[in-house]
Amino acid sequence: MSFIEYKGVFYRLLHPRPTILLITLCPGDRVNAMPASWNMPISEEPPTIGVAVYRETFTYQCLNHHPEATINVPSIEHVDLIYRLGSVSGRDVDKIKEFGIKLVPSDAVKVPTWGDAIAVYEAGS
Ligand SMILES: Cc1cc2nc3c(=O)[nH]c(=O)nc-3n(C[C@H](O)[C@H](O)[C@H](O)COP(=O)(O)O)c2cc1C
Repeated sequence: MSFIEYKGVFYRLLHPRPTILLITLCPGDRVNAMPASWNMPISEEPPTIGVAVYRETFTYQCLNHHPEATINVPSIEHVDLIYRLGSVSGRDVDKIKEFGIKLVPSDAVKVPTWGDAIAVYEAGS
């Protein structure tokens, strides 16, 4: 197997995964939304979910600014929106305004949740 083939297999074997929309609070009182497929439940007690967030994302910067997030589960009808949200950075565009993301207050965290999600986890870190 060539290196290129190996990379294709490495990437695809565990894909697709259920994608979540990670919402964070950012510097300047901004809210940002980033799709993340590299997520997994880690523990039931305490309830813990791992999400791999690339260091160069705006979301990484936002999580350092405010260490809470909401983990929003999209339905299949939002597949195109999720793809588009993952194709631009909140550093360059206010994705909440640009994509008309409906935000609603969370119960336990300061970060809002996505009103169109089919399920939401409110998370501290
Ligand atoms: C379906 C999908 C899944 C993604 N999963 C991840 C992920 O798990 N971790 C990650 O760091 N980036 C992931 N990305 C890429 C980020 O969503 C993308 O870099 C995004 O523009 C970052 O936004 P931000 O700079 O506003 O934080 C994914 C993109 C898509 C479309």
